[in-house]
Amino acid sequence: MKKLTLSAMLLTLLCSVLPAVFAQEPAAAPAPADAASAPAQPPDIICFESRKGASEVTKRDLKPGWPNVKCSSKTGAVLWWGDPFDGTVSMGDMPLLGHIPKGNAVVKPRSEKLAILPLCGVACHNGLVPPTLPKTKKPVPIPTMEGLVPELKNLQHGRERIWCLDCHHTNQRNKLVDNFGDPVSIDQPQLLCGKCHGDKLRDWRDGIHGKRIGEWVSTGKKRWFTCTECHNPHNVQDGARNRGFIQIAPESPPQLPKGMKDAKHELEHAVAH
Ligand code: HEC
Ligand code: HEC
Ligand code: HEC
Repeated sequence: MKKLTLSAMLLTLLCSVLPAVFAQEPAAAPAPADAASAPAQPPDIICFESRKGASEVTKRDLKPGWPNVKCSSKTGAVLWWGDPFDGTVSMGDMPLLGHIPKGNAVVKPRSEKLAILPLCGVACHNGLVPPTLPKTKKPVPIPTMEGLVPELKNLQHGRERIWCLDCHHTNQRNKLVDNFGDPVSIDQPQLLCGKCHGDKLRDWRDGIHGKRIGEWVSTGKKRWFTCTECHNPHNVQDGARNRGFIQIAPESPPQLPKGMKDAKHELEHAVAH
């Protein structure tokens, strides 16, 4: 018994130390070419694309004077992309999206944003540990996991009806799981979410839900924002608020063109209605 406790403790320790090492690795932010010669390096500007704390991007120049992003000084959110396809990969196969030419639907990989993920399939869930799987979906405390990802202490998704292995693959813990029990890449979360939120998946596919940036033409190249770039899968309910999003103050209106005093003309409609 004592031995078991000790090894459990060791495991906990290992599992909590390693990610910290991973987390300390600097975010992928290629330094500007003249970094070495520049006298004083201004601090990195880090903005978020769609979910604060989960979709951060470091501002850099794609070419001189052409930044990868422009960010709001008020919220820190990205307002404009210098290259909508920067850092994207092909979305992979999606049912009913066959009409889009291959490579024209792209996504930004989630896996590179997740510090613990590289360990999930090896260090702690290597097929030998844990020796048993949960028999029910009843939420139970998982101290090791809660130490790594504090939000798991109180999973705010599905009102206690769904649990870890509804979303994470049983044997391949660095993968998600689709409707047929097959592994799904963390970079393609729509195949996971869509099995329970079919209506949202349809809306997303049709461009009614979510966000896309890129070419206007319907079959043109576009970056699709994936479900987890906006939603935190471990917290969509957020307690009594019943929403995983915090409210942010709206941006100030855009500047009026030179010489224009107000935008009252916009209230007038050319066609009577
Ligand atoms: C609704 C589906 C869902 C449920 C339920 C769920 N997860 Fe997750 N989990 C995900 C998805 C999707 C990701 C990837 C998140 C991202 O891309 O930001 C993830 C990420 C993770 C990560 C990696 C975090 C990181 O930062 O590297 C861990 C660890 C994890 N989940 C553990 C758990 C545990 C333990 C439970 C049960 C208590 C659980 N999850 C329940 C969907 C879920
Ligand atoms: C195993 C089924 C399952 C999966 C997989 C799943 N969800 Fe859910 N989700 C639920 C349930 C059940 C609720 C609670 C609905 C309710 O109480 O009305 C919920 C609630 C939500 C809500 C809050 C909406 C509401 O009506 O309160 C959002 C947002 C959400 N899920 C997004 C996602 C995203 C994004 C993913 C993929 C990462 C995902 N879900 C994967 C079952 C699932
Ligand atoms: C660009 C950001 C974004 C993306 C991408 C996105 N969502 Fe949402 N989603 C939202 C917002 C914003 C809401 C409204 C939340 C609110 O009312 O507070 C929402 C609401 C929802 C709801 C709750 C709807 C309700 O009736 O209350 C579900 C479920 C959901 N999304 C699932 C998904 C799934 C599944 C995907 C991927 C296929 C997805 N979302 C992709 C931003 C996004």
